Amino acid sequence: MTVKEIIKQSNCGDGITTTSSGEENGDFLEVILSKHSSIRQMNDDEKVSSVLDIVLGGYETTSTLISLIVYFLHRSPAALLAFKEEHEAIRRNKGKGQPLGWEDYQKMDFTRNVTKEAVRCGNLVKFLHRKALQDVEFKGHLIPRGWKVLPVLAGPNLDPSLHHDHLQFNPWRWTEDKEIGKKTMGYGGGPRVCPGSDLAKVMVAFFLHHLVLTYRWKVKEDEYPIAYPYVEFRNGLQVEIEPVESHV
Ligand code: HEM
Repeated sequence: MTVKEIIKQSNCGDGITTTSSGEENGDFLEVILSKHSSIRQMNDDEKVSSVLDIVLGGYETTSTLISLIVYFLHRSPAALLAFKEEHEAIRRNKGKGQPLGWEDYQKMDFTRNVTKEAVRCGNLVKFLHRKALQDVEFKGHLIPRGWKVLPVLAGPNLDPSLHHDHLQFNPWRWTEDKEIGKKTMGYGGGPRVCPGSDLAKVMVAFFLHHLVLTYRWKVKEDEYPIAYPYVEFRNGLQVEIEPVESHV
């Protein structure tokens, strides 16, 4: 069954309620599929496109990034230790079971560097599709109208002339090299830059907070990421996982 057929058949959004101040309650999917929503009604093609954006753009990327970080941290005990210490310190200042908030995320400096380094090394989105709508002059080259252009994001991310030990997972490079943000392109750029990047970073950080404080894990020896062309693991990322005694 196609996404379009599912949307046509579903009653999604009928459960939306409206508060006294006129705000609609319901998740994002319910709102965009709602027949009653006050937002502009989308046609079926727009709804399909939004659903695919959420599922492919929002789900696959973030879950693969989490897998990559689980893998890289296992391979880098020094990074895992620093990562764990950061989350233990944050948890020590909170009540047991108290949910994380924005102010906690702001303290996750090392975690953000781990995430950025995993995006650099992992290259979840290797290239983009662009089409020149008019003749474009770029650095002495003419890109004729109608030509396809594929900017390869993995190029700068893994360029040995830009990154010392470019194939090494090293989260500390993000504090050592002040210019590194200009030498990497994990989330694209310009007007079409990924709109979900901040959401992805927070989701990854909060998930890993609970993972690292609750479990220790070992990645199976013959496990590694491959690009075929999407990033996946040789055996689906097999890990041995066990609960840890919490000291915080
Ligand atoms: C690790 C996580 C993610 C990575 C690495 C990533 C990467 C990217 C990249 C490289 C692009 C192309 C940008 C460009 O054309 O310049 C993109 C576009 C997009 N991303 Fe993400 N993304 C991630 C998470 C998310 C999430 C969580 C969402 C939504 C909840 C999302 C929604 C989108 C959408 C809708 C676009 C298309 C934007 C447009 O064409 O205007 N992404 N993403």
